[in-house]
Amino acid sequence: MNYLLLAASYLLGAVPFGLVIGKLAGKDVRKEGSKNIGATNVSRLLGKKLGFVTLICDCLKGYLPMLMAATLLENEPNVNLMVALCGIAAVLGHMFPIYLGFKGGKGVATGLGVFLYLSPLAILISLGVFAGSVALSGFVSVGSLLSSALMVIWLWLLGQSKITMMTAAIVAALIWLKHHENIGRLLKGEEKSWKKK
Ligand code: G3P
Repeated sequence: MNYLLLAASYLLGAVPFGLVIGKLAGKDVRKEGSKNIGATNVSRLLGKKLGFVTLICDCLKGYLPMLMAATLLENEPNVNLMVALCGIAAVLGHMFPIYLGFKGGKGVATGLGVFLYLSPLAILISLGVFAGSVALSGFVSVGSLLSSALMVIWLWLLGQSKITMMTAAIVAALIWLKHHENIGRLLKGEEKSWKKK
């Protein structure tokens, strides 16, 4: 059961909604903009509405596997660990999708779904950090990097469990690793805006 849940979480996380939505709108988002399959690039290439739809779909990919594990394993002693692992598996699915030769997205929206499951209150604070840093810098990547890293601090301040903090730390670390190109562009002053040109 545990392995099945992990596999299902990974396979759901691996569904490339941004790519599918882009293709339906007539664009391969892997070929333009930042070439990422995430909501920011969909928004950049196809407008805010489709970017928002991608955001919601990718966010659900993180949230639903955790809800599924919590429901199915309700009475198991390892339920919290399995819920956490299913969230991480979904993020890994988005980042390294089997359907796309393991070349996936940066995990922000799917990570948001995981963070939302872990603590809606911490997400409220993080959304403030995200909105403020994007408004000040003009770059979604700055918001993603800052808000994901700070999630661990908010969870700690809110007295969350070690498993919750470890899950958030792992997801944040994965998000930072997947943003290595953005970090390079930011340092060189060449980062791309999220706005449609
Ligand atoms: O959600 C990913 C975001 O932080 C950066 O996206 O397309 O600008 O690389 P992008």
